[in-house]
Amino acid sequence: MNATNRPPRGPRPIRAGQQGQHRLRVDGVDLVTRPMTPDDAQGVREMHERCSPESLRLRYFGPAPRLSDAVMRLFTDPERGVTLVTHVAGEPGKVVAMTNLMDLAPGEAEVALLVEDRWQGRGLGRVLLWHALALAPSRRVRVVTASVYATNTRMLSLLDGAGAEKPSMTGMVLDVRLPLAGQRGNVRWAVSLNTRRTDGPSL
Ligand SMILES: CC(C)(COP(=O)(O)OP(=O)(O)OC[C@H]1O[C@@H](n2cnc3c(N)ncnc32)[C@H](O)[C@@H]1OP(=O)(O)O)[C@@H](O)C(=O)NCCC(=O)NCCS
Repeated sequence: MNATNRPPRGPRPIRAGQQGQHRLRVDGVDLVTRPMTPDDAQGVREMHERCSPESLRLRYFGPAPRLSDAVMRLFTDPERGVTLVTHVAGEPGKVVAMTNLMDLAPGEAEVALLVEDRWQGRGLGRVLLWHALALAPSRRVRVVTASVYATNTRMLSLLDGAGAEKPSMTGMVLDVRLPLAGQRGNVRWAVSLNTRRTDGPSL
């Protein structure tokens, strides 16, 4: 097989599994993305411990909060939103990313992502944002928002690619709005998901 017909590297969806499980392959490693349950609390805490202070600052705008049992209950409370965990297939304790889509107001939810440092820059964030947006209609969410540091080019690039509006205010933290009417952003997302190549090293 030569370089031109080699399959593209980077995340590729494999199939949707049972109970909202999605399998994807990142640089040859199979990962599973699925709704978080209370049993994932330890894996989520350990993932946070492996993250750099900078990643935690970008996600939480300061030091990471104490991930108390109350916070874990919030993450897994379907009345408040939905949290996805991404872990190595067959190893549910090896969480590598967490995706939150938390309700803010009727029809509005806030998305936030945290990908463990060693998994960043391989296209995982793009897939996870896509999963979060795909969940929005079933939660009657019409506008997804995100608070993002103005210097966070990766997250801003992801949101822009999904069809986010250009933020009207400037500042250290930007409030980004992503209206989902017509699912325009999701369609664009799905197309780019299938064509993306990444240059990250294989595991
Ligand atoms: C932001 C974050 C979720 C993105 O996830 P990721 O898996 O690293 O991102 P991806 O590999 O999908 O790449 C996202 C974009 O950044 C770009 N990118 C990748 N590596 C990059 C690098 N080293 N420098 C600059 N941009 C880079 C990609 O090209 C992509 O842009 P594109 O969509 O225009 O092609 C992840 O880096 C992270 O968790 N960061 C810390 C926490 C955080 O910032 N959370 C967001 C707050 S809500």
